Amino acid sequence: MKKVLLALLALGLMVAFSSKEAIQKEWEQSAHNNGVMGAKTLSAATVEARAESAAHCARCHSEQGFVAWLDQLKKGNPGNLVGPDGKPATVEYLKGLGLTKDQVKPITCQTCHDEDGDLRLVHDTPMLPSGFKATAVGNAALCITCHNSRNGRITWNAEDPGRYTYPHASSQGDVILGKNAFFVDDTKEWPNPHAFFTGNACSTCHMSLAGTGDYSSHTFKAPENLCASCHGAKYTQEMVQENTEHLLSLLRSKVNARVLAVRDRIKTVRAYNPENGQFTPNTPVTSPVYRVDILSIAGQIAFKMTLTDGTVLYSQLGDIKDDKGQPVFATKDPIVRASWNYLLIENDGSKGVHNPTYTRAVLLATLNALQ
Ligand code: HEC
Ligand code: HEC
Ligand code: HEC
Ligand code: HEC
Ligand code: HEC
Repeated sequence: MKKVLLALLALGLMVAFSSKEAIQKEWEQSAHNNGVMGAKTLSAATVEARAESAAHCARCHSEQGFVAWLDQLKKGNPGNLVGPDGKPATVEYLKGLGLTKDQVKPITCQTCHDEDGDLRLVHDTPMLPSGFKATAVGNAALCITCHNSRNGRITWNAEDPGRYTYPHASSQGDVILGKNAFFVDDTKEWPNPHAFFTGNACSTCHMSLAGTGDYSSHTFKAPENLCASCHGAKYTQEMVQENTEHLLSLLRSKVNARVLAVRDRIKTVRAYNPENGQFTPNTPVTSPVYRVDILSIAGQIAFKMTLTDGTVLYSQLGDIKDDKGQPVFATKDPIVRASWNYLLIENDGSKGVHNPTYTRAVLLATLNALQ
């Protein structure tokens, strides 16, 4: 009997050991190991690359930054990292945290798990940089703390947002909770079953159901046949994604048409060079625009404009100027709010899966606003 127990114990330890190794391997291949997969975003968390403003990016792009920030967040300050005196963190202080080229760490095991292996945050989030909290969302509280648009709370029915700021690449938290899109009332909780009635939302779909063995996947990738787990074998993600992609393409066309309608007024841009990150002010626009793509440059909504003569120009929206040097698209132009919404949904990356009815409502309302 004792022997059997011992054998079982040994087996248990072996399973635990091998699953830990497997978890380690999966994590190494994941985007969270951004030291390998995306060295550029990890370097944004270092003082060598950004001096004091590493206090901004390090919050979500590094282990050291996140662990320091989480304490600050729980005390009610979702802003950039501050020093022990509560004042903006100095380069010296950030160096002390290890936010240097040699020491910075990506989203490691210790970023999400504490010394005992427990998750650092569950159930509810404090106030986040996106201007909302998530309540009763299980483990998703941890994910949403970093995966949010991080540029403040917008007013859904504002006539003039007063800025050209873009929603950061990590808008999943906003979309799943139904927050921070223009033209759709987000003042009440959006009843999204995927957010509230799947247990742990993010980690249910991206970890538990993605796991093949006796542990949760740490690739953080949603599996191929995910929907079948809850909706039956014949239900696929394309059933949501294809219609969302179509709505996104209708919206791109509408934005294009709006720009083309005023293209004669476009005289100069502050041209951005995606190869070296440099800007050239007062670049003349030599021929009419015929195609526009919506993207972001250095934290602002931007257009990639293809001209009739084949030239391609990249510019932040506020830098597209008329012959008087005024922005062709003032911040109150609905094209600014429409572009924000477009990027919010596009950056979410799930093409409607995270919050099917909200995504659809946002895209339809945005199309309507450009009428
Ligand atoms: C509130 C958390 C948070 C903060 C603060 C933050 N990021 Fe991010 N960022 C993320 C997350 C999460 C992703 C991954 C999103 C995804 O892939 O969907 C990301 C993605 C990115 C990407 C890849 C985007 C792309 O378009 O592929 C870049 C570049 C980036 N961040 C730069 C920065 C810089 C520079 C700063 C500081 C100025 C910063 N981030 C601050 C959370 C944050
Ligand atoms: C981005 C956050 C994150 C990172 C990074 C992370 N984990 Fe996890 N881990 C989780 C979450 C969330 C769960 C709970 C999974 C669930 O809900 O199914 C978990 C569960 C676990 C478990 C419990 C067994 C299981 O799979 O359910 C172990 C062990 C574990 N993680 C080890 C690790 C190790 C080792 C690393 C680094 C190689 C790591 N984790 C990195 C978030 C993370
Ligand atoms: C400490 C901040 C942080 C936490 C917590 C966090 N993430 Fe991330 N996540 C990031 C960053 C930063 C990236 C982008 C890394 C890069 O590419 O440089 C990312 C990338 C991802 C990606 C890949 C995106 C892509 O475009 O390939 C997925 C999926 C993801 N996270 C899911 C999750 C889930 C699920 C959780 C919760 C279990 C979670 N994340 C928790 C910061 C975080
Ligand atoms: C109902 C299941 C479900 C839930 C809940 C869920 N996701 Fe996803 N997520 C998906 C699917 C499916 C995709 C699209 C994958 C594809 O198209 O290949 C996706 C895409 C993504 C992407 C784009 C990059 C990638 O890996 O393809 C990120 C990042 C992401 N999810 C993070 C999150 C975060 C953070 C949460 C919680 C706030 C969350 N997800 C909740 C199913 C889910
Ligand atoms: C962990 C379980 C789970 C997974 C995985 C899951 N869903 Fe759901 N989903 C639900 C629940 C629960 C509801 C609400 C009850 C219902 O409609 O069956 C729901 C509702 C929906 C709705 C109706 C939306 C609404 O607002 O009422 C759509 C559309 C949907 N899911 C699509 C998908 C797609 C596409 C996938 C795969 C990418 C998926 N779901 C994966 C649990 C899940």
